[in-house]
Amino acid sequence: MFDTLEGLKRSHSCGDLRLTAAGKEVVLMGWVQRRRDHGGLIFVDLRDRDGLTQVVFNPEVNPDTHNKAGVLRDEYVIAIRGLVNPRPPEMINPNMDTGEIEVMVEELRLLNAAKTPPFELEDYKVDVSEALRLKYRYLDLRRPSVMKNLLFRHRAAQVTRQFLNGQGFIEVETPILTKSTPEGARDYLVPSRVTPGQFFALPQSPQLFKQLLMIGGLDRYYQLCRCFRDEDLRADRQPEFTQIDLEMAFIGEEDIMRVVEGMIATLFKELLEIEVSLPFPRLTYQECMDRFGLDRPDLRFGLGLRDLTDLMKDTEFRQFREVVDQGGVVKALKGPGLSKLSRKELDELIDLAGVYGARGLAWVKVQKDGWQSPLAKYFPDQVKAAINERLAAKEGDLILFVADTPAVACTAMGQVRLHLGQKEGLIPEDVYNLVWVTDFPLMEYDAGEGRWTAMHHPFTAPKEEDIPWLVTDPGRVRARAYDLVLNGTEIGGGSIRINRRDIQQQVFQALAIGPEEAEEKFGFLLEALEYGAPPHGGVAFGFDRLVAILCGAKSIREVIAFPKTQKAACLVTKAPSPVDLEQLLELGLRLEV
Ligand code: AMO
Repeated sequence: MFDTLEGLKRSHSCGDLRLTAAGKEVVLMGWVQRRRDHGGLIFVDLRDRDGLTQVVFNPEVNPDTHNKAGVLRDEYVIAIRGLVNPRPPEMINPNMDTGEIEVMVEELRLLNAAKTPPFELEDYKVDVSEALRLKYRYLDLRRPSVMKNLLFRHRAAQVTRQFLNGQGFIEVETPILTKSTPEGARDYLVPSRVTPGQFFALPQSPQLFKQLLMIGGLDRYYQLCRCFRDEDLRADRQPEFTQIDLEMAFIGEEDIMRVVEGMIATLFKELLEIEVSLPFPRLTYQECMDRFGLDRPDLRFGLGLRDLTDLMKDTEFRQFREVVDQGGVVKALKGPGLSKLSRKELDELIDLAGVYGARGLAWVKVQKDGWQSPLAKYFPDQVKAAINERLAAKEGDLILFVADTPAVACTAMGQVRLHLGQKEGLIPEDVYNLVWVTDFPLMEYDAGEGRWTAMHHPFTAPKEEDIPWLVTDPGRVRARAYDLVLNGTEIGGGSIRINRRDIQQQVFQALAIGPEEAEEKFGFLLEALEYGAPPHGGVAFGFDRLVAILCGAKSIREVIAFPKTQKAACLVTKAPSPVDLEQLLELGLRLEV
């Protein structure tokens, strides 16, 4: 019933043919996107990776072939041989790359049939649940919008490799079966059959191996590598994802930033024909927190935060006074023209601030005759005037305040800012805003665990002048670390590394990693640092995130061929799944669930 390819070779793709090919005999192969019967003629839109071509079965050209075409259904796999015909002017389809021509079929080979797909592949605007799309991802991939993303990703990988090769980087693969590399998530573990009771960890990043490569003299390394992190998933997080990972020896921060800026600028130019201006602006971590309330600021819109703490000494509003007296701050933002917000909308903002720990969110509508606000009566006129002046508030504006600890006030107001930006349509599309964030603290205090934890990872170098604080005042030590933020998403981060054993040990100590634990987990690194470790540093980019933003995808799942669900499952293969008892026994494991 089915034909073979015997004696037939594909001459063009379904996206290739233009008017210049008129009169040529061609061979096309692909899937039936749609069949239409019109007055004795059968029209088929034939699809492959590159596009669509209309092919026509005419009983006058070949009655047998026309007859055979009667069985064709959506997604049948066929090959055709025929002549390229210019379409009559009224039949030209300007929406199709190949819309000036059609192919009059002389020979049809039926290569395979197909069941009716569980969702329409043609109309990619059609509302299909993501679960169904992911279960039948191989069908979903046939849809032009999904295919386009993968082709874009492929080009992005090529441009990246070409750029880094040109800068003297060497691509090296590092192990997947390895020891834990802490990047702040849980490890995926792989039990060892050969040594029962022992485990490999899948790498959260190649961090330690790339440092060993620098000690090994490779000088400039890169890799498009898979990383594995067992963490709560979001639209821009997957349990396995890809990094553009790089490391350089005998360099400082500026050298790495220069290479990265070149790489990002090249990606924008080659993929989007956009010239980004260099160098990228920089903000310190502290500036980001003060002005935007988070360390990955979206600078495509205003609504920056302002500090009003110093203006609060003359207010009679007890809650604000108390917070300030206890060392807290009052943070405010002005929404131009936003005094139109309803009570309900203001309540939503109050709830949102509450989610981030704020005990309240106060509001003021600036009107012609002064403030309309539950707070109005507590503020003397000169304080109101000073606040209006600092925020350049005018009639019709909305002022929002949070009084709390610096961390809570900044974080809550930062989230309110983002929410308003999105809800009020203040964030322009098609604008790309890149900014470096520098001067991160080396450590942050984890109140839950009652100890200091590394803000990046424990191998990040402290600023030389801050080293004395490691023991006495860890929160004060700044890291030689930098993140690159694109439109409010952290697309990459890195640091200069510690290249001396004594300093690495001091940092472990500050992180409450005792000598024994340090030896057991990172002994190989500590030893390697004693064999002539050069000054080195690097950075890693979330390749999925970068590609998703550049091609306008809403989630990184859209740019990954076989992504996992929010529950970290692969719906195509139904992984994870149970294993045989025998397999467990071989690994020396017994299940308790
Ligand atoms: P970091 O942990 O910041 O640094 O990771 C680098 C970048 O990887 C991306 N990323 C993710 N993308 C998708 N899904 C995830 N679960 C996920 N987690 C992180 C982010 C992030 O900026 N070894 C260091 C780098 C270095 O110091 O050189 C590291 O991995 O875009």
